[in-house]
Amino acid sequence: MKTPPQWLIFVCIIPLLIGVHPVNGQQRNRDMDNFIKELMAQMTLDEKIGQLNLVTAGEVTTGEAVSTDVESNIKEGKIGGIFSMTSAQRIRAAQELAVNHSRLKIPIIFGLDVIHGYKTIFPIPLGLAASWDMDLIQETARIAAIEAAADGLNWTFSPMVDISRDARWGRISEGSGEDTYLGSRIAEAMVRGYQGDDLAAYNTLMACVKHFALYGAAEAGRDYNTTDMSLHRMYNEYLPPYKAAIDAGAGSVMTSFNDINGIPATANQWLMTDVLRKQWGFNGFVVTDYTAINELIDHGLGDLQAVSALSLKAGVEMDMVGEGFLTTLKKSLEEGKVNEADINRACRLVLEAKYKLGLFEDPFRYCDEARAQQELLNPTHLAKAREAAGKSFVLLKNEGQLLPLKKQGTVALIGPLANTGSNMPGTWSVSADLENTPSLLEGMQTALGSQVKILHHQGSNLLADTVYQDRATMFGRAIPRDKRPEAEIIAEALEIAKGTDVIIAALGESSEMSGESSSRTDIGIPDVQQRLLAKLLETGKPVVLVLFTGRPLTLTWEHGHVPAILNAWFGGTETGKAVADVLFGDVNPSGKLPATFPQHVGQVPLYYSHKNTGRPLAEGQWFQKFRSNYLDVSNDPLYPFGYGLSYTTFAYGEMTLSTDSFKKNDTLQVYVEVTNTGNHEGEEVVQLYIRDLVASVTRPVKELKGFRKIRLKPGESQRVAFDITEEDLKFYNTSLEHVAEPGEFAAFVGTNSRDVQEKRFFLVE
Ligand code: NOJ
Repeated sequence: MKTPPQWLIFVCIIPLLIGVHPVNGQQRNRDMDNFIKELMAQMTLDEKIGQLNLVTAGEVTTGEAVSTDVESNIKEGKIGGIFSMTSAQRIRAAQELAVNHSRLKIPIIFGLDVIHGYKTIFPIPLGLAASWDMDLIQETARIAAIEAAADGLNWTFSPMVDISRDARWGRISEGSGEDTYLGSRIAEAMVRGYQGDDLAAYNTLMACVKHFALYGAAEAGRDYNTTDMSLHRMYNEYLPPYKAAIDAGAGSVMTSFNDINGIPATANQWLMTDVLRKQWGFNGFVVTDYTAINELIDHGLGDLQAVSALSLKAGVEMDMVGEGFLTTLKKSLEEGKVNEADINRACRLVLEAKYKLGLFEDPFRYCDEARAQQELLNPTHLAKAREAAGKSFVLLKNEGQLLPLKKQGTVALIGPLANTGSNMPGTWSVSADLENTPSLLEGMQTALGSQVKILHHQGSNLLADTVYQDRATMFGRAIPRDKRPEAEIIAEALEIAKGTDVIIAALGESSEMSGESSSRTDIGIPDVQQRLLAKLLETGKPVVLVLFTGRPLTLTWEHGHVPAILNAWFGGTETGKAVADVLFGDVNPSGKLPATFPQHVGQVPLYYSHKNTGRPLAEGQWFQKFRSNYLDVSNDPLYPFGYGLSYTTFAYGEMTLSTDSFKKNDTLQVYVEVTNTGNHEGEEVVQLYIRDLVASVTRPVKELKGFRKIRLKPGESQRVAFDITEEDLKFYNTSLEHVAEPGEFAAFVGTNSRDVQEKRFFLVE
């Protein structure tokens, strides 16, 4: 490596010379400020604009455009960041070009979609959310950071905190589901996991909260589609998780693709400047999503020059892949459409991020081949992945205690998802080693050894339609197609099942049936698989459905016919072993749904925290004329938010309140005793909901305000306590003030959002 320039050495040793401890925040900020001031004084306009340019190395592309001339652009100082480049070696080589061959030797920031793990893949985010285990979620993000940072990366495009209540939207798989409170707690946990206490540490990544904002509310669940939403709903329901991530210190924010109330997010000054910076005090940088500036042309906001200027002025600092900033900002400056201060602001914020990451001190601190060898897929990480997968699974049905199975005899493992390793990591696992990920069959065989004999058959194709199947198995996730007639394939599978004790049907979605640009209008198990399932049930053998999905599915028929259903989402690298752990009783399932499962797609959006309407349906009713309901399906979900069974049973004692009336500044306690009344040790997520009964604006019928995950041995009890303060009762009123209005409230405690007890209390002045 070449010696760094003299000014750089000088600036870096100033703190040491004057004896300042590096953790002294204020001094550190002053040092950063001086350092960047000096650096920017030497930068040409082109070099400043270069810092705003994020290119893809083309290893992974998530849009149509691909960056070209990467090498020469680095040398010319035209690139501030690179994403989708992996491996310490390649990243080192690219960084060397920047720090040894560009005029000012400014290091590059290296980003990637490290969404639910880097090489060790954890369950998809929706699955992780189902664990309701914040320590676990934080640990998974920590491990992802340790692995990715050893491999040269310093920036992740995660967490994705978009609330979504529309299961048709494929990207619901990448977030934490429908709930504002749960989503906010997860957002914080993930930021803490990635960033640790010190962004400059060799094993942390800068987080990038996305997609700002409201991406999950796309109309009709169609990806990239328009969002039109009241401010009231935004502030109360959709914005809090982004804010929670910012409050937890997230260093960067990514814009969303969608139009929000007439102004696409990437050009939305109100959102990026007024809300994000002025109201929330965000001081990191904003990057666009993939070519999102260029897409403003199709949104109808002008040509590339116009939309690039608009985005910069609105509050974007870095342009992902589209090169609108690189190719037009200079002209816009000359024509007075942007000013130098706009460019300086953006350049400074990008440089500050690099400074905070310690890249000026040591541009190669994240590239360590030896560390990478030691960290990637190391046994401790894999053990955590197995634990996380087990905790993400949700037991949806278990009639007659069919599960857990005994570790003996022969099982038939049947279905198109039974032997496809490449689908186990789930969507958006761009760095996963797909070829070496064990399939469900392989993982189960490893976990069970010779104790259980497993016979396997594919049973059916993933989808009857070849074209649909091709779309649903992109990015190396192909599932072999059996070209024979359906009846012939099923007959062969039934033959295999004949001599077995139990059938495990591995059915559902492939990993690419959810994720980006994977919206569906029919959110059931594909009918070719359903027909297989019906035939398996006809054998009269016990059938366990192991469900793979990246979204809530409509399982009305399955619920009516299959005795046991375990929702495994996509569990990551260790899916197979984790499924064996749960099916055969080594792990007692404890996952709870982070999103409502509807009975029918026509009910979507269906979520527990809805408003009441002026004509609510009476409890327990299906249809009443002139009430808010449907003629053909009841209003109920198939499985409510927060729902999930266990091999054991939990009895809730009567909930009590410390008082039925409390003052602002005081605290009210809610208590409930929970007892494990079954025969297995198990974990339960005790949930607290609140309803504001009378307010100046309408309030949801229930809102999650707290939860505790407890572990109890058979016969053991625990008294769970929740504190309710004024803060928990606050909401944004019509003037967007965050207030708690005195009056009557209901508190609910229970095992899911439907099955709860209720007690009333008052907040008084
Ligand atoms: C597009 C996706 O919307 C975003 O989530 C991702 O981070 C970028 N592409 C980069 O891959």
